[in-house]
Amino acid sequence: MAVSSGKEARIHIYFFLLLMYTISIMEFGMHFISPFADMSVLLGTRPTTTNMRHTLNEEIEFSRKMASGRNNEFIMKFTETLSNNQTSENNFASLVLKDNKIYCRKSQMKALSRGKYFVQMLRQGLMQNPIRTPDGTPWIDGIPILIKHDDSNGCYPATHIDKYGFPRLTWSVPSDMTGHDESALSSFSSPPTSWCSAIGMPSYKIWRDLKNDTNKFLSSTMNSDNVTPWSAKLSKAVWRGSTTYNNGMYGHLPFLELPRSRLVKSSMERPDLIDAGFHKLVGKFDKLQIDDTIGKMMKEVVPLKEMMRYKAIIDIDGNNWSARFPSLLCTNSVIIKITPDFVEHTTDTLQPNIHFIPSSLDNLTAVVENVMDGDNDEEMKNIVSNAYWWCHSTMRKESIAKRAVESLEKYIAAIDQHVGKGWPRGLVQKLGDDLVECSV
Ligand SMILES: *[C@@H]1O[C@H](CO)[C@@H](O)[C@H](O)[C@H]1NC(C)=O
Ligand SMILES: *[C@@H]1O[C@H](CO)[C@@H](O)[C@H](O)[C@H]1NC(C)=O
Ligand SMILES: *[C@@H]1O[C@H](CO)[C@@H](O)[C@H](O)[C@H]1NC(C)=O
Ligand SMILES: *[C@@H]1O[C@H](CO)[C@@H](O)[C@H](O)[C@H]1NC(C)=O
Repeated sequence: MAVSSGKEARIHIYFFLLLMYTISIMEFGMHFISPFADMSVLLGTRPTTTNMRHTLNEEIEFSRKMASGRNNEFIMKFTETLSNNQTSENNFASLVLKDNKIYCRKSQMKALSRGKYFVQMLRQGLMQNPIRTPDGTPWIDGIPILIKHDDSNGCYPATHIDKYGFPRLTWSVPSDMTGHDESALSSFSSPPTSWCSAIGMPSYKIWRDLKNDTNKFLSSTMNSDNVTPWSAKLSKAVWRGSTTYNNGMYGHLPFLELPRSRLVKSSMERPDLIDAGFHKLVGKFDKLQIDDTIGKMMKEVVPLKEMMRYKAIIDIDGNNWSARFPSLLCTNSVIIKITPDFVEHTTDTLQPNIHFIPSSLDNLTAVVENVMDGDNDEEMKNIVSNAYWWCHSTMRKESIAKRAVESLEKYIAAIDQHVGKGWPRGLVQKLGDDLVECSV
């Protein structure tokens, strides 16, 4: 009895699988046939009775995943981007990792845009720290890498909406994703658990700067302790910037209510403590009528070297995240960071009140008062020194390259979990007819 009902169940399962198989062929077209036929090979199992049950469970799981739209979206986005002969309109790029080398399509190499900096980091990083793909990963063609190389990562912190829902590498991630556990990200053990599936890459900007000058960040401040020692600094916090704001989150607000405008207004209330101003009207506000109030909000540019004449420098998000933050930490002033919506991967090893002072726009005045309080001098000097050592160990080529490999490992773990065994075999070979090692 038990035996025959087991058989019956198995027959049902086969029918179920056949159905799902048909659906998957209809969904993906004839290119994508074969995953089922290859399942036992992929899993390294032989169809003995004990393994069979395991295999069947895996297959059911697989077909469930194949049928679920989310996972298909990853495969579709990757293949669409890889097979597209034009520059991708949605600012994605498809790369392939195989044997610790990065491949891309020859015809797309020029269209990689800022993505090329990530490729460069990986090329150096994988030479220093080759990675081992997780056991049992069926990426026989190589691992599909999907990067989004424009400013937007697709995650909206205010509503917790992820526009894509599948793993992709991005320049920034929402700041509420980076608890400090996430900074120990190496190995394949930490798939994303948060509402946003974007995975941060190290900053293209830092890499670009270091490429030209390996000492860029340290040399720019090397003599600053002689020129601007703590005791000679102005007891004020400084900020300059343009009228940028995150359109997705704050686009509905009037000019004076934007985060950066609020920062400048707090300076107008306490000019003795905060010296903040716009040096440029840009974007939607480039033709803003300069009335009395706006006129008072505009100030002369202050170059970074000059900013070190102040005890504190304020950092605040603009369009998306503040790409300036890591280089500010290389100065010899205290950095006051206004609670960000987005952060760079490179800065997720930083701790508030150790490397920088956290602030909100509501308590900024109190925060600056604290920093300037002579009783806190030693603590502030310590924070400057901690930030400097962070800069010293992070803002160099080898360590950025190493972090790029860590990002990649985290990404592989994420897609392994997201698509897993559902990856159609032979696909990359089919689409990537002119795949070459990506030497950009
Ligand atoms: C893309 O270009 C390749 C040759 O470079 C060609 O074989 C292929 O058909 C093109 N694909 C599309 C979608 O135009
Ligand atoms: C990031 O910035 C771009 C360009 O300003 C903007 O279009 C996009 O909405 C921003 N992303 C998010 C998630 O708000
Ligand atoms: C490279 O660095 C030098 C000085 O170190 C600078 O003069 C030059 O403008 C930089 N080039 C680029 C492309 O940033
Ligand atoms: C100011 O706000 C930030 C962000 O919420 C918080 O971390 C910090 O402790 C506050 N500081 C003061 C002095 O209230």
